[in-house]
Amino acid sequence: MRERRRAATRLLVTGATGLVGRRLVADALAAGFDVTAAVRDAARAVGRVPDAARVVAVGDLGPATDWTAALDRVDVVIHCAGRAHVVDTDAAAGEAAFRRVNHLATVALAQAAQGRARRLVFVSSLKVLGEASPAERPWTGDEPPEPHDAYARSKVAAEIALETLHAEGRIDVVVVRPPLVYGPGVEANFLRLWSAVARGVPLPLGAVHNRRSLLYVGNLASALLTCATHPQAAGGRFVVDDGAPVSTSQLVRDIAQALGRRPRLLPVPTAVMRAAGWILDREAAVHRLVGDLAVDASALRTATAWAAPFTRAQGLAETAAWWWTRAPGRRPADNP
Ligand SMILES: NC(=O)c1ccc[n+]([C@@H]2O[C@H](COP(=O)([O-])OP(=O)(O)OC[C@H]3O[C@@H](n4cnc5c(N)ncnc54)[C@H](OP(=O)(O)O)[C@@H]3O)[C@@H](O)[C@H]2O)c1
Repeated sequence: MRERRRAATRLLVTGATGLVGRRLVADALAAGFDVTAAVRDAARAVGRVPDAARVVAVGDLGPATDWTAALDRVDVVIHCAGRAHVVDTDAAAGEAAFRRVNHLATVALAQAAQGRARRLVFVSSLKVLGEASPAERPWTGDEPPEPHDAYARSKVAAEIALETLHAEGRIDVVVVRPPLVYGPGVEANFLRLWSAVARGVPLPLGAVHNRRSLLYVGNLASALLTCATHPQAAGGRFVVDDGAPVSTSQLVRDIAQALGRRPRLLPVPTAVMRAAGWILDREAAVHRLVGDLAVDASALRTATAWAAPFTRAQGLAETAAWWWTRAPGRRPADNP
């Protein structure tokens, strides 16, 4: 008798050219998923999406995006595409763009997926809960939303719409709310911190003993694949992290170690930093360095037995290896 092989889960990953999507597609292929990668523009997929994935271009996301081709023969959708890391000078235009891409396009995708896919995993953001978790009480994911900007408002609106579709039995939804994600390809503020540490810039962070959760992109990909397949994940709204929060001063030391550099930390009191942030109109930026933003991912672990496959040290080491490929002339041998 011929052996019957279990068919591979057919996965649609949106935002497949992004930091998260790239890693997710690679890990899903390695784990045996049959992967369709939705991208804005097919040319952007070249060199970013492995040949083993089926690439479908869906254009600029909005409520009228046509998802038909992308959803052809798909069991589960992981929706990573999103407008992120964008600073808008025109607040009203920014609000509208976040709403169109992160909220309305997500609802359109979920509606198109009904009756085709059995589950949609939505990559939301920890920012839906706010900018600061209470001291000594990490967020578990049960807290009410408290969005502070247009990005977070668009994610909250998408979450609410998706959870309504789940409650109505139209499609299984899982919401995942990552904190800051890092790994090869990281951009924005985290990249600036790496550059500062690599260049040996003295940082006034030596007296910062806060608690911030971070998430290595390999751990996020693993959590998303668990949420895509685990029966107990359906209907969940999960926070997730590398395992334990870290202070900004310790993070600088850890990054320096990963880069083979000596950390240069000045013990400036956080009250002085906050005052300087207020004077320079950079309060939010200072808060991101000195404030608490910690999660407790036990809900995901309890529901699915998920455990982060990588330690923070491993995630930082991989990020450092990528970082040096961008600056090959300044390898650790040049350490001052
Ligand atoms: N990185 C983090 O720290 C973090 C933390 C929490 C949550 N998240 C969420 O995780 C998801 C992935 O983030 P990421 O860091 O991978 O972001 P990213 O590197 O900026 O990638 C975003 C992806 O979405 C696509 N995209 C963005 N705007 C689009 C539009 N208008 N039309 C079509 N495609 C569009 C991008 O396509 P192009 O390549 O063509 O631009 C890219 O594939 C996002 O939903 C983000 O909100 C990220």
